[in-house]
Amino acid sequence: MELQISITDLCNYSCIMCMQQAHEGLYDAKDRIIPRLHNGNRGFIDKKVFKKILEDTKYIEFDLLKMQWNGESFIHPGITGLINILREYTNFKRIVFTTNVSVINQKIIEYLKTLNTHIQFVLSIDSFDQNIYKKIKGIDNIHKVEKNIDLLKKQLPKAIFTFQAIAMNENKHNIKEFIDYIKSKYLIDEIIWDEPLIYKKDSNHIFIKKLGAFNQLKYDEIHKNLFYDLIENKDYIITAWDGKGIRKPCVGPFTTPTFNWDGRMTYCCMDSELELSPGNIIDKSFEKLWNSKNSQQLRNAHLDKNADLYPRCKRCLNLNKI
Ligand SMILES: C[S@@+](CC[C@H](N)C(=O)[O-])C[C@H]1O[C@@H](n2cnc3c(N)ncnc32)[C@H](O)[C@@H]1O
Ligand code: SF4
Repeated sequence: MELQISITDLCNYSCIMCMQQAHEGLYDAKDRIIPRLHNGNRGFIDKKVFKKILEDTKYIEFDLLKMQWNGESFIHPGITGLINILREYTNFKRIVFTTNVSVINQKIIEYLKTLNTHIQFVLSIDSFDQNIYKKIKGIDNIHKVEKNIDLLKKQLPKAIFTFQAIAMNENKHNIKEFIDYIKSKYLIDEIIWDEPLIYKKDSNHIFIKKLGAFNQLKYDEIHKNLFYDLIENKDYIITAWDGKGIRKPCVGPFTTPTFNWDGRMTYCCMDSELELSPGNIIDKSFEKLWNSKNSQQLRNAHLDKNADLYPRCKRCLNLNKI
């Protein structure tokens, strides 16, 4: 099982492909505008809510704890206090921090050093080219980010580092340079193309991620073409649905409890507006939420191949991922 906790849904960046920016038009489909993420209800997780989630779930041996959802966790003003609470819990094989690496500092690193669990950092970089980085991230900050990565790598040598670039229009001509730069500076050779595999790795690696976009087929193609341009003699195998055959039940309702910063639970990271939520951990125990009628009905719908009854499941792009 994997536990995911949103430390915040706020961010100091405005990356052009991210949910954070969708209220100004979707990536490559600017005429499609959706309401701002958690409009009117954005914020930071409270220590008590964080502790309640960990306390209620401490009897479960999780493969992963993901310490973020739709925002940048390290901007939480009390992040060191949260890491301090996390120290007490060792029921995770790995704790994953996915980050834009912009606000890491020495104080945060000192707290991270005290964690008793294996840490993985997924570094969302997308490009080391100053102009491309600025185009994608909306901020001219790659030099600071690089310094922060070096700081993390030096001081947390046992952590696993995933150097990530999402393949999109702005950087597709720069992916080879991205890979070569990492290979030369950080001496990392392994390249991974399929997201679930990064959480199984015990050594540092490069991850070329597929963009999730309105015009999905176009970005599937860009990702595939890059793979064939850069990798020889291998088959392109990605764990996504090709749109053919019968849809498999999703693992989310069975394996990935996901909490918003305000305590509401849902079943997977795709449900960013918590349409499927059975309730809030502030009012009910994790056990009650996870075993609720709502949870069982959702699971049964997936097992009975009726997932499409739920609008959120029907329009999901994450189909048939393992
Ligand atoms: C929403 S961010 C939150 C964590 C943190 N702020 C960061 O950027 O790493 C989580 C991950 O989703 C990635 N991401 C953002 N937009 C995406 C998209 N349209 N398709 C695929 N991944 C995306 C980011 O690069 C990041 O690795
Ligand atoms: S830094 Fe992360 S959460 Fe923030 S806008 Fe970029 S991808 Fe989205």
